[in-house]
Amino acid sequence: MDRLEFCRNVARDAGRYAHTAFGQVATSLKGRHDVVTAMDHDVERFVRSAIAARYPDDAIVGEEGGGHAVGRERVWLIDPIDGTANYARGIPHYCVSIGYLERGVPTVGAVYDPSHDWLYSAARGDGAWRGDERLAVSKCADLAAATIECGWSTRRGTADYLALVARLMVAGGAVRRVGSGALGLADVAAGRSEAYCELHINAWDCAAGILLVREAGGHTNDFFAGDGLTAGNPLIATNDALCAELAAVIGMPLNC
Ligand code: IPD
Ligand code: CA
Ligand code: CA
Repeated sequence: MDRLEFCRNVARDAGRYAHTAFGQVATSLKGRHDVVTAMDHDVERFVRSAIAARYPDDAIVGEEGGGHAVGRERVWLIDPIDGTANYARGIPHYCVSIGYLERGVPTVGAVYDPSHDWLYSAARGDGAWRGDERLAVSKCADLAAATIECGWSTRRGTADYLALVARLMVAGGAVRRVGSGALGLADVAAGRSEAYCELHINAWDCAAGILLVREAGGHTNDFFAGDGLTAGNPLIATNDALCAELAAVIGMPLNC
């Protein structure tokens, strides 16, 4: 079993485990509008121990348990539940996201959506998939027909978020926010939306999703530049047809 198959299996098993408590767990707040449940910790422990048993020399970083990735050649990034606010409220839009980087480059990733039993996965150079269906970004070249998800957290100011939304809407796009960065990226990879943008997102949220988008023929900014791996960065992921226009509208270089 290679890393891709391993990653897919662990994401699916972890998601099925998470779903046993879907909408039924007590929540607490890590910060303003930053929800966590006991299941976030339990699922992360499950994924960590699977990786540690199989790849004991690899580094592991998880949203809840932390970890050290700097200078490490092989790094796993775990978001045990992405979309915890949805998960805790019984809204069926959340996932487990597991990304794997080799020398800083996203190489393998899996995103499992337990509510639909949808397993997204990608390996560098081998395409992006949902189950055995190959994914491709949308061909939409017109912002007036484009849907763009704008992720939001309290890590950046309200005025900056509103300014981003305003720019995109003035340029003609329809903006949405549904609460899971990893699934937002899977939507772009699957051609269901044209772009995903967020002023700050962490590496565990997007490592797998960035690979999905790139392998589905889309583009992103250079998210892992600087200290993106440890401190997060802004993220834009888009289809090919709108890449240059979106880069100009948002004012951020994209690898189109
Ligand atoms: C959050 C979600 C949200 C995104 C935030 C993330 P969490 O992750 O992905 O959609 O906008 O940046 O922090 O807290 O649900 O794991
Ligand atoms: Ca997350
Ligand atoms: Ca999370």
